[in-house]
Amino acid sequence: MKRISLSEYLLQQERTQGGVGMHLRQLIESVGQSCQSIAHAINQGALAGVLGGAGSDNIQGEAQKKLDVISNDLMMQATEWGGSLAGMASEEMEHPISIASHYPKGPYLLVFDPLDGSSNIDVNVSVGTIFSILKCPAEADPTDEKVFFQPGVSQVAAGFVVYGPSTLMVLTLGHGVVGFTLDRQSGSWILTQPQIQIPEETQEFSINMSNRRNWPAPVVRYIDECLAGKGGVRGKDFNMRWVASMVADVYRILTRGGVFMYPADAKHTEGRLRLLYEANPMAFIVEQAGGAAINGHESIMDVVPKKLHQRQGVILGSKKEVELIGHYYQQHQ
Ligand code: AHG
Ligand code: MN
Ligand code: MN
Repeated sequence: MKRISLSEYLLQQERTQGGVGMHLRQLIESVGQSCQSIAHAINQGALAGVLGGAGSDNIQGEAQKKLDVISNDLMMQATEWGGSLAGMASEEMEHPISIASHYPKGPYLLVFDPLDGSSNIDVNVSVGTIFSILKCPAEADPTDEKVFFQPGVSQVAAGFVVYGPSTLMVLTLGHGVVGFTLDRQSGSWILTQPQIQIPEETQEFSINMSNRRNWPAPVVRYIDECLAGKGGVRGKDFNMRWVASMVADVYRILTRGGVFMYPADAKHTEGRLRLLYEANPMAFIVEQAGGAAINGHESIMDVVPKKLHQRQGVILGSKKEVELIGHYYQQHQ
């Protein structure tokens, strides 16, 4: 069977759906290139001396790992020269950065989490990269963070890469969700999942149980009902998984269903995950795969950001489960 590369897929999409012009194609291909470089760095691990802490904190007060910084640099270097970007913002940078003056500017904004699941690097568990692409309004100054304050529904494309047993890229351009596997021999992303669809119902949930004492009542109710199993109101046994790398947990949900939660709670009053480069791209992908993504009260992608590094409660996955949890929130109001 003929193998379809990322480049071919993007061209095909432009021919059938439109909206994937030269700039967007160039940008997504560059993101793919940078993720190949990140994959290589992660894969070398201790051999290249890239494990462990960087000795610095990011703007959110989190200790940076060496690979957080390396991945951030690789992503910037691979994407800034191509002429597709007006500006970019990242988890690891306090402010948006504009494109160096000697490179041409383009119509898009790139927002990214260069390395998701950094706590897993040193224990050799899957990590990833998450990205979201927005349009830069004409005449806007992309060094002004307000330019990035667009709700998730404005995303043009979103994706993530999982550096796991295989290196996988999940992508949406707003017409469904597809997956590519990195073929290291040819250096190409090959289309391996042409149509990712989340099963509607599930028997699996994903939450950090150590936060239970801080959870809001609707989340306690939902999880307790899952834990009650066959003898409880749900009438079936549930299973629990928590990788602590959102990319890996979301990929599992895209593959076999389930629900992922990092709700706002008494300790993380605004949530733990970041709206612009974690919650929004994942919400876009999950909804395009037939699932749902809410913060408890509303659809994540309707939230208008007020801060670049704004946090957000996240409940996403199989549609019926997410709706049930949303219903519990409503009942509790
Ligand atoms: P990051 O490594 O980019 O800071 O993100 C980590 C996130 C997410 O990947 C994961 O689901 C969650 O934080 C893990 O949180 P706990 O450490 O509370 O389990
Ligand atoms: Mn992250
Ligand atoms: Mn990160």
